[in-house]
Amino acid sequence: MKKRIAILLSGRGSNFEALTDSVSNGRIPNAEISVVISHREGAPGIERARARGIDARVVPSKGLDRDAYDRQVVAVLQEKKIDLVCLAGYMRLLSSYFVQAFRGRILNIHPSLLPAFPGLEAQRQALEHGVKFAGCTVHFVDENLDAGPIILQATVPVRDDDTVDSLSARILAEEHRIYSEAVRIVLEGRYRVEGRRVVLLKEAEAAKSHV
Ligand code: GRF
Repeated sequence: MKKRIAILLSGRGSNFEALTDSVSNGRIPNAEISVVISHREGAPGIERARARGIDARVVPSKGLDRDAYDRQVVAVLQEKKIDLVCLAGYMRLLSSYFVQAFRGRILNIHPSLLPAFPGLEAQRQALEHGVKFAGCTVHFVDENLDAGPIILQATVPVRDDDTVDSLSARILAEEHRIYSEAVRIVLEGRYRVEGRRVVLLKEAEAAKSHV
């Protein structure tokens, strides 16, 4: 049976599109994007999902505390029988209720080489810090911000004439590549978590998928 992926987003949705393309072209085999959820009415990613005929839902967060909101989102995820949740530019911290409901089955992409530069405007933070290499990270989501075990990272050079925009664009191309790769690894169970370390396994060694 196909693995059922949910994507949660707040904005543009380019990572959503990259994941969707990978599902269509077989880079992520045996999977489907079953639902896209946003807390923001008018998030461009929601429009992009609808244009592709994907079930795209806005669950408004106004007036709800984190827990009450997440209960609504988790209810949708359960209704849709979701196997894996991918945060893709989702600008909300998850409650422990949410994390516990999908423990080990929530991924996030962050535009820095974590644990450097967590939080907002990671590319600006990297540029202002003067690092020579920047990059992106796909990690499991736990209760803390940008903190769970790291699945994949990619580096890009920082050039002397970089702006936040030029650096962000270079990182984004790598985000699109490694997010799909990480989703495939997780869906195929090709990893083992040892404390904070995610050890990647060869296909032959793959354990039964946890997802
Ligand atoms: C990406 O840079 C992602 O790493 C960060 O938010 C941005 C989302 O971009 N978490 P998009 O909406 O996927 O285009």
